[in-house]
Amino acid sequence: MGVRGITLSGCGISVPDKVVTNDDLSARLDTNDAWITERTGIKERHVGGITSQMAIEAGRSAIADAGLEPADIDIVLLATTTPDAMVPATSATVQAAIGVPGGALDLNAACSGFVYGLVAAAGLVSVGAGRVLLIGSDALSRITDWDDRTMAVLVGDGAGAVVVEPVDGPGSLLSWNFGADGTLRHLLKCDHGGYLFMDGKEVFRKAVRVVVESAERALADAGLAAADVDLLVPHQANLRIIQAACQRLGIPEARTAVVIDRYGNTSSASIPLALGDALAQGRVSAGDHVLLTGFGGGMTWASAVLRWGG
Ligand code: COA
Repeated sequence: MGVRGITLSGCGISVPDKVVTNDDLSARLDTNDAWITERTGIKERHVGGITSQMAIEAGRSAIADAGLEPADIDIVLLATTTPDAMVPATSATVQAAIGVPGGALDLNAACSGFVYGLVAAAGLVSVGAGRVLLIGSDALSRITDWDDRTMAVLVGDGAGAVVVEPVDGPGSLLSWNFGADGTLRHLLKCDHGGYLFMDGKEVFRKAVRVVVESAERALADAGLAAADVDLLVPHQANLRIIQAACQRLGIPEARTAVVIDRYGNTSSASIPLALGDALAQGRVSAGDHVLLTGFGGGMTWASAVLRWGG
């Protein structure tokens, strides 16, 4: 068997219907639209989602977008931090509901999960798997204390999915970079049955440094420079983190996908939601270099460089 690369052949998203604006939050918490907008860039978020349900909707939509049927998919790979239950894996619920005949597994790398999942999908394809339905889905609203203004203003629910297809030759994934530092696990955590806790200032400081380093390494491994990046798709945690990363990387915000104003931080879903939005707007063409980069609890971080279209 020769080299088997990947290409992304379809994309779909899903968010719950219920929208909570900054003014809605201000009505019940000691906060206001100006503070939230200035510190985070978030204007509204969707809440009340169920991880499996959003994943099923996004997954079906990605399969249809690729012009395929569920029977054409071999594996469901679900990146999530908020599984429906401890056991079984939420991907099993998704696999059965969509009607995918093959395997199913969950992956948790917090907000870096989608990029970890993309590289894992490429690895599965390289050892002979057929198409992988890669989904990032999270319902952070379910592990958030809505009386805690420091977390409530930041989070939202959603899902995004792509179909990862085998192709002959090296394919779209030019390079990738993973990192983790478990000594920082206290910065962002949620114990069983508890609520999300975050040391926001410390996460902010570390996040900018690690995503920039990770993105630079991935670009160097692909033999590319910042000027070659047609679209940066960063994890959507905070607009100021995105802006700081853009500035240090030397990638203008005009070449960056930003949806945090509409969705807040949706963890594993944030990168595919931003990618889906960019695709829907026709911002990605065959041959474009797309840089995905994320960070999250763990801490973990991950970057991947794609040449769109294989
Ligand atoms: N509304 C109004 N005021 C608030 C508030 C809210 N929702 N939350 C905190 N404040 C207050 C604080 O009490 C503090 O008041 P004080 O100055 O009187 O003590 C003030 O606002 C500043 O708080 P601070 O925590 O210093 O703000 P910040 O500029 O660090 O912004 C975050 C807070 C959370 C927005 C920011 O730290 C951040 O985005 N961190 C990274 C988050 C992230 O990326 N998380 C996801 C990782 S995957």
